Amino acid sequence: MDANIEFVIYTALTATSSERSFGGQKEEHPFRNSGDWIGGGANLQYYPENSNLTAVDMNPSFITYFEENRQKYPQVNLKRTVITMAEDMHDIDDNSFDVAICTYTLCSVKSVRSALNEIKRVLKPGGKFLCVEHVLYCKSSWNSTLQKFAAPLWKVYFNGCTLTRKSDEEIRKTGFKDVVIEMHHPKDMWLVARPQIIGIATK
Ligand SMILES: C[S@@+](CC[C@H](N)C(=O)[O-])C[C@H]1O[C@@H](n2cnc3c(N)ncnc32)[C@H](O)[C@@H]1O
Repeated sequence: MDANIEFVIYTALTATSSERSFGGQKEEHPFRNSGDWIGGGANLQYYPENSNLTAVDMNPSFITYFEENRQKYPQVNLKRTVITMAEDMHDIDDNSFDVAICTYTLCSVKSVRSALNEIKRVLKPGGKFLCVEHVLYCKSSWNSTLQKFAAPLWKVYFNGCTLTRKSDEEIRKTGFKDVVIEMHHPKDMWLVARPQIIGIATK
């Protein structure tokens, strides 16, 4: 990738989650293989030189952890942190980022549709949206019933995280081009959060 790439990431602590979800199988991770897999923490090592990050979260407490992690990766330049709802990023200009990254956040936002529309708005034409999210099982089964049964308690315990989102469908409806969504079921994830999508799409 070229120098001075503008990234917007939705919350900083992405790395540990993605490592966990894919059982640490870095070599098999499609984004990692292409050299542009992203995230905070350990995944910051995969950002190219001169990566300019804007980190977005509604909760300011992430900044301390993110800053600690970032010190280890001098190729990453944190340009800005924006404390806002992903559904309304009015402080961020249209068409301003090359890459937008979202891990385990669409499960928690109030409106997936609005958050995705905002992500699309802030991406430059041709910009890439990358995500890793847990979703509802794609077919009705005992597992999906279990997800629906566990969802209310899970939501309370995990700060609004929703087990039953169909974020893959929402991404397809947002009007991105070249949408590629892979479904994975990593064995080391709890059964109710096991269906995971890895998505890439272009504005
Ligand atoms: C499950 S955590 C994921 C954190 C991190 N991205 C990761 O992959 O480990 C969900 C994050 O989404 C943030 N969040 C929840 N709702 C949000 C919203 N509407 N807008 C922006 N951030 C939100 C929370 O503050 C929290 O940091």
